[in-house]
Amino acid sequence: MRICMIGTGYVGLVTGACLAEMGNDVWCVDVDEAKIEGLRQGRIPIYEPGLETIVTRNAEQGRLRFTTDLAEALAESLFVFIAVGTPPDGAGAADLRFVFDVARQIGSAMESYKIVVAKSTVPVGTTVKIKETIAEALAGRGRSDLEFDVAFCPEFLKEGSAVDDFMKPDRIVIGTENNRTAELLKELFSFFTFREERMFAMSIASAELTKYAANAMLATRISFMNELARFCERVGADVTEVRRGMGSDGRIGSAFLYAGVGYGGSCFPKDVKALVHSGREAATPFSILEAVEAVNDGQRGWFFEKILRHYGGKLGGKDFALWGLSFKPNTDDVREAPALDLICRLLEAGASVRAYDPVAEENARRTLASCPAVEGALAEGRLRFGPDNYEVLQGADALVLLTEWPLFRKPDWERIRSLLAEPVLFDGRNQYDPARMKAAGFVYHAVGRA
Ligand SMILES: NC(=O)c1ccc[n+]([C@@H]2O[C@H](COP(=O)([O-])OP(=O)(O)OC[C@H]3O[C@@H](n4cnc5c(N)ncnc54)[C@H](O)[C@@H]3O)[C@@H](O)[C@H]2O)c1
Repeated sequence: MRICMIGTGYVGLVTGACLAEMGNDVWCVDVDEAKIEGLRQGRIPIYEPGLETIVTRNAEQGRLRFTTDLAEALAESLFVFIAVGTPPDGAGAADLRFVFDVARQIGSAMESYKIVVAKSTVPVGTTVKIKETIAEALAGRGRSDLEFDVAFCPEFLKEGSAVDDFMKPDRIVIGTENNRTAELLKELFSFFTFREERMFAMSIASAELTKYAANAMLATRISFMNELARFCERVGADVTEVRRGMGSDGRIGSAFLYAGVGYGGSCFPKDVKALVHSGREAATPFSILEAVEAVNDGQRGWFFEKILRHYGGKLGGKDFALWGLSFKPNTDDVREAPALDLICRLLEAGASVRAYDPVAEENARRTLASCPAVEGALAEGRLRFGPDNYEVLQGADALVLLTEWPLFRKPDWERIRSLLAEPVLFDGRNQYDPARMKAAGFVYHAVGRA
């Protein structure tokens, strides 16, 4: 089948490459000329396990092409996917500017029947507005005779395992206005699952809300565990033991029950915000989600306070080695990453930071530029990035773990002790065993483990 993917970011590039891998002809379109030029030359703009292999193979075999020319890509395609960003606006709502820009461009350029599928996460009602926007653009050029259908198919891939998630989805949600479009989309996605019961055809509004509901539920579990962790510390319990005990209940399950430094990334924070905003607008507020957001916002400060308390409220002159910058392992995405927030707080408090991340340093440097303390800290040599996870430890007052990369799971504790000035560890991801850390001579601070 012939497909046009508009927006070649984390979702668009993975989706486009996976659809090409299944034998479809895919055009990936983006307004970012440097990104498209790089992709044409074989440079993959993001770190995602397994992505480079399938992009390279399909580009070489001519099934995956890259362009900034939407009209060129549109002309050949039946399915047109919209996978542009929907970041939060100032009020917390989803900013739909990019989505409607694309809808106008589709209406201005299409010359034959299309199925326009929104994949960007958008509030209920947006896909219908996409349809109206395309129809207006068609009318504006006197081509209201051209037919098209719209659909909403939310994307559930997870950064860090995006290719696998797309190739072997738990479920595929297809929101359409008519059966014909639903059947065509089922056929397209049948490449990825033979199991009919994993495909859920539903109304567009339900499909739009399903995506937000799923992310909001996962975020709720995380905030619940973080609040429970704070309580555990007060009453002498261990949140990891409580998690094992409660997660073994088949009705609860163990996923997303990990206390830590709060959720980050490009989806949970903005999607919870957007749903809270939509709830208020509809006069049916999501009081649970408002609390979820507040707990998450507070969690980073809570962890920072833990560090501050250890040093009697004074961090000036302290030197921290920090492991992990991305918002989670196996990705270079640092959007809303707790590590960057903590670096900013430490620098503002007068401390120094030497950070290491296997792949996210470049993105972190760029994003950290918006922290007011960074420019001065860089000039004073109070912020630097190391070439590996041991180099940054040399003479540091403590190690802070913020992203649970596999590389950090079983480090050489003797070597770490010999490199640090003081054997102090702040574990923001509850990666290590408190008893073992104590036996290894460390002062160990974790999350919710009294
Ligand atoms: N990243 C994830 O893990 C994930 C998972 C599920 C759903 N989503 C949703 O998918 C959408 C995209 O997310 P992302 O992380 O891939 O974003 P992204 O920022 O990585 O990529 C968006 C891309 O769209 C391009 N773009 C913007 N305007 C354009 C236009 N007019 N024409 C062509 N390209 C244009 C940008 O240049 C950018 O390359 C969002 O709505 C997000 O909520 C993301």
